[in-house]
Amino acid sequence: MIGVFDSGIGGLTLLREIIRQLPDEKYCYYADTDHVPYSTKTEEQIRGFVDKAVEYFLAQKVKAIVLACNTATNVCVEYLRASLPFPVIAIQPAVKVAADNAVKNNESHKKILVCATPVTLRSARFQRLLDTLDVNSRVERLGLTELVNFAEKEIFDGEARQYITEALAPYHLDEFSSIVLGCTHFTYFEPVFRRIAPGLNIYDGNEGTARHLKNILTKENLLAHDSLSIDYVESGIKSHNIARFERYMNVLEHQMD
Ligand code: DGL
Repeated sequence: MIGVFDSGIGGLTLLREIIRQLPDEKYCYYADTDHVPYSTKTEEQIRGFVDKAVEYFLAQKVKAIVLACNTATNVCVEYLRASLPFPVIAIQPAVKVAADNAVKNNESHKKILVCATPVTLRSARFQRLLDTLDVNSRVERLGLTELVNFAEKEIFDGEARQYITEALAPYHLDEFSSIVLGCTHFTYFEPVFRRIAPGLNIYDGNEGTARHLKNILTKENLLAHDSLSIDYVESGIKSHNIARFERYMNVLEHQMD
């Protein structure tokens, strides 16, 4: 079994892509519904919440954990990797993909707009990523805290579109090559971003993270050939509202059409 963790339903956007690449596995999707959104919590609180999820995963004897939450990754991934005896795969904003494609498209003079939670945007890990890629001067950071709440409330258009439109209004979008969605909740709004910024490439880290997971499991000889199943868990308890999770999976299914 593979444990997939997020503060809420955002990580389903990554789970959907993981299942596309690894359809013969069993998954346990853990949403920390009691504590979402994480971006309003302290790092210490987030560490405590993630520890609870890890305890749950250990009891399920998972063979790998996927942190499908950029915010939790920035706070916890290093110490989890140091303390757990199996692979911990983590998502991060797809700035490298955006920068590489900008070069390919002759747009490396243009800027990259990274939308994420404030915790991610001010984290040392994110800063290290920008330093490594040497893109500091070309990256603008935009925190979109409310978008997490819209996604949790299943509001994918209307008010949410208004919020995104207003947040992007101060930017001269023709100066940008792309927008990076650095929070898994934001992927639900990809069609909205495309409509508001039609000339820009929109990236998230889902495809790359799922590919990375597949490579690691292959290398470690951990791939399963099971029938697909997903257990949905909310803050340590098996979900009583599976229909809600399935509605989100359907939204993502339609986006992929
Ligand atoms: N989905 C999460 C992320 O990728 C975090 C959202 C939140 O709880 O603030 O950053």
